[in-house]
Amino acid sequence: MNVNEVVTFVDKIVFEKTGKHLDDVQAAVVQGTWERRTYDDIAQECNVTKNHVGDIGAELWQLLSQALNEDIKKTNFRSTLERIYIKSSENSNIYNINGTNNYFYYPQTLNHSHQKTQETNINTQSKLSHHDLTLAPQIIKFHNRETELQTLNYWILNQTTNLISILGLSGIGKTTLVKRFIDLHQQKFEVIIWRSLKFPKSLNLLINDLLNTCQQQPKATINDKLKQLFDILTNKKCLIILDDVQNIFTPHQFAGKYQPEYQDYQTLFKMITETQHQSHVILISQEQCPEMESLDEELYPIKSLELSGLENIDILKNTGLKDEDTWLNLMILYTGHPLFIKTIAISIKKIFNGKVSEFLAENELIITQEMQSLFSQIFHKISPIEQQIILALSKYNQPISREDLKSRLELSSTNFINGLESLQKRYLIHKIENDNILFDLSPLFREYVRNFCQD
Ligand SMILES: Nc1ncnc2c1ncn2[C@@H]1O[C@H](COP(=O)(O)OP(=O)(O)OP(=O)(O)O)[C@@H](O)[C@H]1O
Ligand SMILES: [Mg+2]
Repeated sequence: MNVNEVVTFVDKIVFEKTGKHLDDVQAAVVQGTWERRTYDDIAQECNVTKNHVGDIGAELWQLLSQALNEDIKKTNFRSTLERIYIKSSENSNIYNINGTNNYFYYPQTLNHSHQKTQETNINTQSKLSHHDLTLAPQIIKFHNRETELQTLNYWILNQTTNLISILGLSGIGKTTLVKRFIDLHQQKFEVIIWRSLKFPKSLNLLINDLLNTCQQQPKATINDKLKQLFDILTNKKCLIILDDVQNIFTPHQFAGKYQPEYQDYQTLFKMITETQHQSHVILISQEQCPEMESLDEELYPIKSLELSGLENIDILKNTGLKDEDTWLNLMILYTGHPLFIKTIAISIKKIFNGKVSEFLAENELIITQEMQSLFSQIFHKISPIEQQIILALSKYNQPISREDLKSRLELSSTNFINGLESLQKRYLIHKIENDNILFDLSPLFREYVRNFCQD
């Protein structure tokens, strides 16, 4: 029994009793309580007061107590549901909710004497079986990103944006953000399928996999399979997530160039934006490809969300770090990058006994092993032209103009301009727009390049 099943179960009871599905805060209270988090914590995540969360919780526990004929409170919510679950698996897998047509169903063996019950639950099962989040990470802690969640909310739930890309540096929080969005809104989609392209497979195999997950037998040709897939996207509200998309692009070349064996993904991405349907595909990637860009965002159902660092210190709470008044400086030093912040927090705890002010007094930018390994993968994956530009940029402590940078390099204008553009598509350089345009490396990447890439 996992948190998604619990939210779906509670949503079903609430819908049966009130005619309304769980709203975002109610879903967060159910999820947070299941994960044994405090109302304070849930309130911060939802950007509402603790009292409001307490009121929502009290209403939910009362409604669930009546529906399940149990005395349910925040403190026994999880244990009671787990007990009910065990009881239901022992008793022909079905738990009847008092006086309603809801059943707590787990797909093992069905009791054949309950023909009507069986039908009801097959419907429920088939609906849930289209939610395949097996490969999605479980999110225990989530901070900030309210604006990004609202943006996704608007694009996906208010507009029909068919193709959305979530972009940014490795470790910046792309996967975490999308999973959080799903945890909050999963009841709004008939089909949700999460797939990672960390170990990419051919488009043909991916479509077979998507069709099988939707319980459809894939036809013989790729054209027929695409037709089957788009029939589903048209008839049902689906959310398909493809994570780690950068792995279908060619290493050691400019960003966003498909590997020959994955070239036909381009066709799929184009079809998703050009065909009329009611579904959404989210691409999560460390680098942009042309299909993720749109010159006229108003006209095309395609949007990109580029993530930068977290802006406040919430991620450092409950980590055991000391000197809270200096945490913001630490966040700024490590550009709010959540993965880097987490790894440096661990080092500070181990070496400085958690004293952030002592760490900052060292006055040096420390590159941890994890950061080194992440930057090393990035540096060794980019093209030789981009490496040359990065090495030249790393010699400066401040942003530099395009003309100055070019004068330090022996590159043709074409290679230089394409190299700069590619580095921007990978979020490795920043463009600063003042009177004239300047380019800069993030201080951490600069420090890494200076120390580890000079050969
Ligand atoms: N909003 C957040 N609140 C708390 N922790 C976060 C947040 N965003 C990211 N993290 C943490 O930072 C780490 C990196 O996040 P995540 O895996 O989502 O990055 P990513 O951008 O998908 O990286 P990659 O491109 O390498 O897959 C994870 O440990 C995650 O728990
Ligand atoms: Mg990721």
